[in-house]
Amino acid sequence: MIRTICFAMALTTAVSFADEPLFPNADFETGTLSGWTVDGEAFKVQPTKGDNSAVRNRESSNHEGEYWIGGYENYTGSVGKPGATRGDSLTGTLTSPQFTITKPYITFRIGGGDLPGQTGVRLLCDGAEVELASGVDSETMVKQSCDVAKFIGKTARLVIFDSATGGWGHINVDAFTATDQAVPDTTKAFAFTDEISPAAYPDTGYDQPFRPQFHFSSRKNWLNDPNGMVFDGEKYHLFFQHNPKGTGWGNMTWGHATSKDMVRWTQHDHALLPYRVDRRAGTIFSGTAVVDHNNSLGKQVGDTKTLCAFYTFAAKPNFYQAMAYSTDLGETWTYWNEGRAVVPNQGFDSGERDPKVFWHEASQRWVMVLWVQRNPGRVRFFTSKNLTDWEFASDLMRDWAFECMDLVFLPVDGDPTKVKCLIYDASFDYEIGTFDGKEFHSETEPLKISRGNFYAAQTFNHAPDGRVVQIGWMRGGPNAAQAYELPYNQQMSFPYELSLRTTSQGVRLNCWPIKEIESLTKRLHHIENVSLAGDSNALADISGLDLVDLTIEFEPGTATQVVFDLPGIAVRYDAKEQVLMHNGIDNEGQSHDYWTIDKIPPRDGVVQLRLLVDRMSLEAFAFGGETFGAHYFNPKLGPAKHSIHAVGGEAKIRRLELRELNSAW
Ligand code: FRU
Repeated sequence: MIRTICFAMALTTAVSFADEPLFPNADFETGTLSGWTVDGEAFKVQPTKGDNSAVRNRESSNHEGEYWIGGYENYTGSVGKPGATRGDSLTGTLTSPQFTITKPYITFRIGGGDLPGQTGVRLLCDGAEVELASGVDSETMVKQSCDVAKFIGKTARLVIFDSATGGWGHINVDAFTATDQAVPDTTKAFAFTDEISPAAYPDTGYDQPFRPQFHFSSRKNWLNDPNGMVFDGEKYHLFFQHNPKGTGWGNMTWGHATSKDMVRWTQHDHALLPYRVDRRAGTIFSGTAVVDHNNSLGKQVGDTKTLCAFYTFAAKPNFYQAMAYSTDLGETWTYWNEGRAVVPNQGFDSGERDPKVFWHEASQRWVMVLWVQRNPGRVRFFTSKNLTDWEFASDLMRDWAFECMDLVFLPVDGDPTKVKCLIYDASFDYEIGTFDGKEFHSETEPLKISRGNFYAAQTFNHAPDGRVVQIGWMRGGPNAAQAYELPYNQQMSFPYELSLRTTSQGVRLNCWPIKEIESLTKRLHHIENVSLAGDSNALADISGLDLVDLTIEFEPGTATQVVFDLPGIAVRYDAKEQVLMHNGIDNEGQSHDYWTIDKIPPRDGVVQLRLLVDRMSLEAFAFGGETFGAHYFNPKLGPAKHSIHAVGGEAKIRRLELRELNSAW
């Protein structure tokens, strides 16, 4: 008798430690919904078969066996095709058969929308409704256990519910089992999402006919804002907003390139990748990088200074600012505190973003400038000693301020004893003033210097020789990949050196292409004192023009127009309107006449211009960089013949320098 009991106990123990299906077809492996009750539309075409989310280029589902519930999917093995979708808008419930709770945990896989109350799994037991879990804002399901010990012996049902119709409005589940032990909770741990390969397309070249030859573009796929621009003591880093999965915006990742001269770039593996932590999945929006010159973070290895990249973790429901650091000058990165906030959302806007961080020598502090609110515009300053604890310093209320703030110090007229502070936003509205370590004090009204496809610029931190060099994103134009069969879309501006000059109206900003452009010179042409009238063409003796850097001083004289027919683009100075015009392109690929720069009245009868022409972009600067415009054009519509000529009268070229450029690639 005693023996029998022992045997029975041993048997019970052995059985109870194995995972058991919670009820028949709790893993959907019949390939049907047998036993389950469908209400509404959301779960009508289920279970789905195979890794459909991966087939449609999203995260892998991480399902068990062959079948699972994928709320977004529309393939069952007999209905639909692999990768087909039903979308987020459908709602409904899927109710399980009745079962008895025999073990302390129900363990299952769950993914899809993290929308508690709207997408998830609930338990109906003993008159109670208990919400067990919601998704994780990723198609990849995670294994999760829920404690149901208090219901042991009771009968219950599960309800998989989806009442959400917007983004992430679907739920994924698989394999409900009864278990004695809980699986470790991995839903809070740091994990990369979206299965993005960091490899930066080593097989793609820059040799396509319309590919920019002296402007940075990603070897492949989409690019927007420059990020984390920093000089590490030897080379310049240009990180950038990048979609590694396509030629449109999305899946924001920091791409990475380095250069010794800001002109010739080498693209490296992507630096910062989308991840999930604390059940929040997010992508990596814009920010800055600093060299931790005094080891404030305490992570320095040997003599190599640590690079710290501050970025916006773009996650629902609220963005926050986070940091990653690299002890090998940007090759590998560690996400500080697993990518959690160094500056939490400040409660003004769910999209607070784009931290600019810099070292403020006078106060011996790191400073962060952060856009946090629109209407009224609010820019928040923080200070820190260790790069991880940030204290509120001040708010700057400015209605012009929106996204991608930058703040830099520049001498006025090159005088190092007269340093002023320049603050600007993504659309390059700016003010000049002083910064005392906590607060910006303005000395100008809001000003503007640029027009056209120029956005979200920033400057290199720790640049050598006290130079302040800026790169902007040339935003817009048609999708270059679709319009011109290119592997990429969007390019950066050429780097410009910033300076402050005293003018009759006060101190003003100037932007001018960096001198390193000269290292690309293939041929240099000088022309002086040439009259343009009738058929005379200042470029008559120059053939085979391709990439151009043209500086010119001319008198419009009696001409109504001075025309620059350059490779791919016709630019004309309209002497009556005193404006520079060109035939540009809009985001839909339509060509229109555009003002290249704001009004340019001659000074003492003279106009000074500089034009940079690459395969599909024109950058024009007036009077040494007092104003500029950066524009795209349709490279297929260029003038047949290259010329500089006058129309309607006589103009005079006082001085012209035309630099034919080599490719930087
Ligand atoms: C500016 C911007 C930033 C944001 C990023 C996202 O172009 O909207 O504010 O961080 O792009 O890609």
